[in-house]
Amino acid sequence: MRLDRFLAETTDLTRGLAKKALQRGEVRVNGELVKQAATQVDEASRVTWHDEPLVLVGRRYLMLHKPPGVECTARRGLYLRAIDLIDLPKAERLQPVGRLDVDTTGLVLLTDDGQWSHRVTAPRRRCGKVYRVSLAEPLAGEALEQAARCFAEGLLLEGDTKPTRPAELIMREPRVAELTLFEGRYHQVKRMFAVVGNHVVALHRESVGPLALADLPEGAWRALSAEEIAAF
Ligand code: URA
Repeated sequence: MRLDRFLAETTDLTRGLAKKALQRGEVRVNGELVKQAATQVDEASRVTWHDEPLVLVGRRYLMLHKPPGVECTARRGLYLRAIDLIDLPKAERLQPVGRLDVDTTGLVLLTDDGQWSHRVTAPRRRCGKVYRVSLAEPLAGEALEQAARCFAEGLLLEGDTKPTRPAELIMREPRVAELTLFEGRYHQVKRMFAVVGNHVVALHRESVGPLALADLPEGAWRALSAEEIAAF
């Protein structure tokens, strides 16, 4: 890659500032002072800025236990963003893989690998996302049977043109459901329960495909293992 891009990838410099750093003679490649932004470098090149070695970071894949009051968005707004909880250089390059609402807690995957993200979210890959849903009203008997059937067959949500994909509903307690979705639509869980006359009072995502939060504390994150990355 070009040297100015390498600098932008490995430091906080923008491409423009990287070019200026080059012109000021702050950068060496394999010990030689280099000023040309177009100079080609690769992983084998020893690049230093102010004599500090720079190393290209590969693709990154993380899981975060999202607390409430945190947004899965790139733009700064009213709330803290998921990436603000990731204490890594260039965390803003990471993107949430599917979004959780600001009040929803639980598992959020983050990556800078768009293709991997697509593999996790593409509905035809049938990657199940398991939600623990706290309901305003108990769900049992005929109402439960009807809701489970409705969710399993798919239902048309207001404003959508296609019915939801089959989803699996299990009751853990009279007011606590476990819902597995194989797609991700805007406010989907809340809208689905609204259709069957209930109301979601709290929502938590426990797992995405084979990846579960396990004992990762709320607000904490960890890198995925090579095996976990390869699972999608
Ligand atoms: N469904 C919702 O309604 N909200 C979420 O955050 C995730 C799924």
